[in-house]
Amino acid sequence: MKPQYVKDYHPNLLSWHEFENIINIRPLMSQERVHILAPEAEMFWDNDVWTTNPGCYPPTVLREAIKKYTCWFTEMSRSTETLNAATHKLELECKSAVDAHIYSCIKPEDHPFGIHFDGNDNVIVQCEGKTHWKVWDEVFDREQYSKQMNIVSEPIIDTIMEPGDAVFIPAYYPHLATSITSRLSVSFAMPVPTDPWGGIYQERDWVRL
Ligand SMILES: [Fe+2]
Repeated sequence: MKPQYVKDYHPNLLSWHEFENIINIRPLMSQERVHILAPEAEMFWDNDVWTTNPGCYPPTVLREAIKKYTCWFTEMSRSTETLNAATHKLELECKSAVDAHIYSCIKPEDHPFGIHFDGNDNVIVQCEGKTHWKVWDEVFDREQYSKQMNIVSEPIIDTIMEPGDAVFIPAYYPHLATSITSRLSVSFAMPVPTDPWGGIYQERDWVRL
């Protein structure tokens, strides 16, 4: 499979308002699930008497982090019914288990990893704002450091993604995301077919009472 850009792949996948609803559920905002791309940041907070997991970020700490830094949130595929359905559709199409990672970036900037490649396939959907995406041809030296790469060749995809647009980036294809505005995007991550986890699917039933 080659990288591919698709215009209007999924309009209305996730709005800022829906994202706000998710991040305000404090028990969901565990340190395992929330990744703040700010290695120097130290954060402290008092535990709340009713909190079952004291490792969950309190709202004031989380708001400051999201406003200052690029953040990503894993295990989000069931956080809305729309995300669950979109994840399920991809699982059926790709015959692979899929997770949905939400990325937020309030201050326009390059991706903190710079040009980098991942060890798994990703479908990235722009949800809010605009992002400049570049994708380069596959690398074959897979043992090299996969972040902050220096590539001088022309990218094979060079496009401005708008809400609803998607790009498919297979494993080992270097890419760079540069936010043009504040942005919200969802990265659907899937194991490569040889990954032993590739066949283990989450339940996608949506509870209705
Ligand atoms: Fe990536």
